[in-house]
Amino acid sequence: MQELKNQILCGDCVEVLRRAQAPFADLVFADPPFNIGYKYDKYHDEKAHTQYLAWTRAWIGECVRLLKPQGSIYIAIGDEYAAHIKLILEDELRLTMRNWIVWHYTFGQQTKNKFARSHTHILYFVKDAKSFVFNDDVVRVISDRQKKYCDRRANPDGKMPDDVWNEYPRVCGTFLERTGFPCQMPESLLARIIRASSNEGDWVLDPFCGSGTTAAVAHKLKRTYTTIDLSEAYAEAARERIARSEGLPVEGNGSDWPEHADAELKWLYGENKIPVAQLCENRPLLSLFTKKLNGRLQKKQPYTIKEVSTRLNRLGSQLSPLDKTSSVRREASSLEE
Ligand SMILES: C[S@@+](CC[C@H](N)C(=O)[O-])C[C@H]1O[C@@H](n2cnc3c(N)ncnc32)[C@H](O)[C@@H]1O
Repeated sequence: MQELKNQILCGDCVEVLRRAQAPFADLVFADPPFNIGYKYDKYHDEKAHTQYLAWTRAWIGECVRLLKPQGSIYIAIGDEYAAHIKLILEDELRLTMRNWIVWHYTFGQQTKNKFARSHTHILYFVKDAKSFVFNDDVVRVISDRQKKYCDRRANPDGKMPDDVWNEYPRVCGTFLERTGFPCQMPESLLARIIRASSNEGDWVLDPFCGSGTTAAVAHKLKRTYTTIDLSEAYAEAARERIARSEGLPVEGNGSDWPEHADAELKWLYGENKIPVAQLCENRPLLSLFTKKLNGRLQKKQPYTIKEVSTRLNRLGSQLSPLDKTSSVRREASSLEE
């Protein structure tokens, strides 16, 4: 299995995976073509229904075979085949569904004679209903009880995110992470899944590499990865993407806010949905936010709430659009340490 470790392979995932013998994956994330006529360079995304279903059974079967007994699998899929895939996993392969997640994004495709589609399904299953990795602590968000009602009964660690995810916009032209690949998943969304359902050192398999989002995030979060694409051009671009994130500093490299810390700060900010002004003015919220950020970054020397507040204010318009209406900016320097 060593030959698959940290590899971006070119080939048909079913054929490549068939060659592997023993289960190695702690987590599978798969975002296959949806059979909706999307334009890829090598794959033709308009198969006959029965052919697409047979192929779906084949790749899911291989992924499940190579998933370890305590492993988890997430499959992103459109409306057309979400129900079929649920039944394949549940009834045919006897896995247990944990969540039917709906990723709701803005800027769905415009339509004239029906409502515009603005979601993708993400089906989350485990092999063993009683034994699997789920790290709730790293994905919890600040609850309404904490941010709106200052309710003392609130869980101090925050609440689990809902199963409708609307905090991750589709990757658009202005995003730093944008590669040019047409249906690139946001790194922030993959980070939530990988953090929740695997630990450092675990092995993440993605049979449909595309731009390499899963591998890039797995690499940044210190997981092992294997991913495959039919297209050599996509695989090569993904290898370059990983190479660019090679040696990301864990501690700042001279700069107080290395790129990955900024990325993490933006993701956390988007997930918690508290405008900068409110966050920076409310010391308990800011300190909880800072604790979550430090937890994710695992810095030896954690950021102080003053540093986080200053950085949030500096990033300003680069943060998600929560703050469009906010005119209040609290000077971080006036915060007590
Ligand atoms: C929806 S895209 C994946 C996007 C990816 N999640 C990302 O964030 O960039 C699906 C990819 O699967 C690839 N593909 C299609 N059939 C395949 C097969 N049999 N084996 C491996 N890759 C395949 C396509 O070339 C395309 O790049």
